[in-house]
Amino acid sequence: MQQAVLVTEIGKSLTLGSRAIPEPADGQVQIKLTTQQVAPHDTYGHDLGLFIADRLPFILGTNIAGTVTSLPASPSPFKIGDVVFGLGSPFYPTPEMSGLQQYALLSTESCAKIPQGCTPGDMVTFPVNATTSFAALFDVKGFGFPAPPPFPPSKEEFDAKELTVLVIGGGSAVGKLAIQYAKLAGIGTVIAIASVGRTEELKALGATNIIDRHALPEDIRAEVKDITGQEGVEYIYDCVSWDYDFAISLLSKTKKGVLLTLHPAEKAIELAKEMRPSARVQFIVGNADFIQPHTKAFWEALPIWVKEGGLKVGKVRVVEGLTLEGIEEGLASYRDGSAVLPVVVHPNSI
Ligand SMILES: NC(=O)c1ccc[n+]([C@@H]2O[C@H](COP(=O)([O-])OP(=O)(O)OC[C@H]3O[C@@H](n4cnc5c(N)ncnc54)[C@H](OP(=O)(O)O)[C@@H]3O)[C@@H](O)[C@H]2O)c1
Repeated sequence: MQQAVLVTEIGKSLTLGSRAIPEPADGQVQIKLTTQQVAPHDTYGHDLGLFIADRLPFILGTNIAGTVTSLPASPSPFKIGDVVFGLGSPFYPTPEMSGLQQYALLSTESCAKIPQGCTPGDMVTFPVNATTSFAALFDVKGFGFPAPPPFPPSKEEFDAKELTVLVIGGGSAVGKLAIQYAKLAGIGTVIAIASVGRTEELKALGATNIIDRHALPEDIRAEVKDITGQEGVEYIYDCVSWDYDFAISLLSKTKKGVLLTLHPAEKAIELAKEMRPSARVQFIVGNADFIQPHTKAFWEALPIWVKEGGLKVGKVRVVEGLTLEGIEEGLASYRDGSAVLPVVVHPNSI
């Protein structure tokens, strides 16, 4: 048996329980968790039941890193003792692929060995965030830019230097990854709307311009025009909003724009039909299915991008053991949209 942190009732305190250690099926590995990052969708899962409401008691946590402790009988790309990081799944029928427990399962197509010189703690914030912003920039449902090496070069002509990408919420974890991917892809102008206190940090990651997110919408639009010389931009990735009037107002009026959202986009689609009829609005989902057929190639590339410095490891705050108070604090930190030092939990410590 193992210990696990359970959501037994939506919006109520977490509880500590015990449950069987899951055994891997074909295409899976069993992981003894070293570390697990608490992410905003875990807060929505806890508070509102996002993804999990119909399967209580359930376990939160999709950013997972640890050591392979069991394999199925079928051949596997991994061996016992490999140290890996990967993307769990709140969509799995049972909470086996969730991280707030001592042992979990990962799909072999959504995990990778931790690169030499990196630790599970370095890599654990990447799975969902790196998948999501990869989908935004490089999937055809997103901007569809050619992905950087080790992906093969694009057969079509692509003048990245001429392009402008606007990231709303450049200071968020997904926003910072988008800025770094844009730099890797050679995008010429990368504008981040973020707190000005982040200017140095975001420029170091690859943003060419920072606009104060606390400025008035009309001032932000004017600043975008000053930077680009144009009314609106073609490529907008909104990492933080729930209402999209502002994001749509920043889309080009004359060129076919694309607005990518990380929260459901039905209203944005309707609004864009009125405000920018030629624009495309897409809700991006950071999971393995969304980025198919590139999931395998993405998980091969991700450790390389981190190891070679293309993607930087962020700071975190550690909670030792499956300590309910520390985990609840981590969940609470996402409730007001302020800057967050993500909580990572060490489920097997103590
Ligand atoms: N659809 C998906 O598959 C998917 C995947 C991953 C994440 N998400 C969602 O994406 C959102 C961001 O996740 P995250 O983990 O990256 O968040 P995070 O790192 O916790 O983001 C916090 C930061 O967001 C910025 N922010 C908040 N409100 C803002 C606003 N109105 N304008 C500009 N910046 C604002 C702040 O940056 P400053 O410090 O610059 O003020 C804050 O520091 C969450 O709602 C999450 O659930 C969705």
